[in-house]
Amino acid sequence: MNKKIIIAIDGYSSSGKSTIAKATAKHLGFKYIDSGAMYRVVTLFAIRNKLIDKTNSKINEEELKKQIDSVHINFKINQLKDRQEIYLNNENVEDEIREMEVSNLVSFISKLKFVREKMVRIQQELGKEKGIVMDGRDIGTVVFPNAELKIFMNAKAEVRAERRYKELKEKGVVVSYEEILENVKSRDHHDETRDESPLRKAHDAIELDNSNMSETEQLNWILGLIEKLK
Ligand code: DC
Repeated sequence: MNKKIIIAIDGYSSSGKSTIAKATAKHLGFKYIDSGAMYRVVTLFAIRNKLIDKTNSKINEEELKKQIDSVHINFKINQLKDRQEIYLNNENVEDEIREMEVSNLVSFISKLKFVREKMVRIQQELGKEKGIVMDGRDIGTVVFPNAELKIFMNAKAEVRAERRYKELKEKGVVVSYEEILENVKSRDHHDETRDESPLRKAHDAIELDNSNMSETEQLNWILGLIEKLK
């Protein structure tokens, strides 16, 4: 049995955080939480309830604030697909939140203070008993500043866009590489420049540029770091 610790994995969009986070959690028998999925769920909720004007990405903040408490988020394991799926008010929305419409609007939702406060509260609750790997943008800086291990991941924008393109293509989503590259770059910009919890490497996070690393190499690298903590 591994000692229960908190592992925070932050970094740029599509830098492969979730792949390494999932593999690490599986290896250690820890819980895995994709915090980005939670911001995507709020975005989907806002789209469905017509709280975002899709023509100019403007959000009806006042109304969203009023309705935010009716957003209930849960994670459940799908044994058949061997993956964790996210639920919005008991509806499985795992696939829908990955669509381009949500990806293009999520930055406008994730910069709102009241949204971040609610998500951070849920995330901290999920990590209360430790034994968790969580990936996101502010996990090592805001959500779990005392995490035992913090990783900050990066890779070139082109490499990240290529990975995302392949992933979506495999799922049958029709989208061009150029569109994805633009989305990746625009989300980098939003993530780095927003006022609320901008993407930053925590001072005690260990950096990983995985542009030229296989998944196995990355997992071994992180397991090596965990070994050193003991
Ligand atoms: O990791 P992702 O691309 O699924 O994240 C979706 C969006 O949510 C992304 O634009 C940044 C934002 N996000 C955030 O602000 N804080 C987090 N902890 C995780 C994601």
